[in-house]
Amino acid sequence: MYEILFQAHSGLRFVVFFALVIAVILAFAGWFGNRDYTKGNKSLNLITLISTHLQVVLGLVLYFYSPFVQFGGATMKDSTLRYWTVEHVAMMLIAAVLITIGNAKSKRALNNVAKHRSIAIYFGLALLIIVIAIVLGGRPLLGISR
Ligand code: HEM
Repeated sequence: MYEILFQAHSGLRFVVFFALVIAVILAFAGWFGNRDYTKGNKSLNLITLISTHLQVVLGLVLYFYSPFVQFGGATMKDSTLRYWTVEHVAMMLIAAVLITIGNAKSKRALNNVAKHRSIAIYFGLALLIIVIAIVLGGRPLLGISR
């Protein structure tokens, strides 16, 4: 069970990462290029939101199987255990909340520029946090760790 969840969570990271990168690039291009907020933009942002939420759900289940998640006196003293038990979850949940807020704000925004701007800012910050979190975890950003 651990292995299946681990591989699914590890693999879905590519979907989240690439969807986020493309969404952020298009949002900045739309914001500064004063472009229409198209159906394509809306769909991509929704795919990014859904894949992130799915990743969080998988992560939450994986949390109960991973040998790196431990609640004991040693956890906070060991950087690997601390990372997987506390830091990874905290950073990824913040990123997921930012993506959720950014998408909701873009839906409520009244014009194209405002829609692109909220995606660019909120998704952009989330992308930064996700990249930093994965690098801090010592796992490859775009590679297979095992
Ligand atoms: C945007 C959300 C998230 C992303 C992009 C993400 C990404 C990743 C990545 C890249 C790995 C390493 C996979 C590998 O080594 O191949 C990982 C592992 C893991 N993640 Fe997440 N994660 C997210 C959310 C979460 C959440 C919310 C939790 C827990 C509540 C979580 C728990 C874990 C656990 C327990 C591991 C496995 C550690 C191990 O046993 O090696 N993740 N995650």
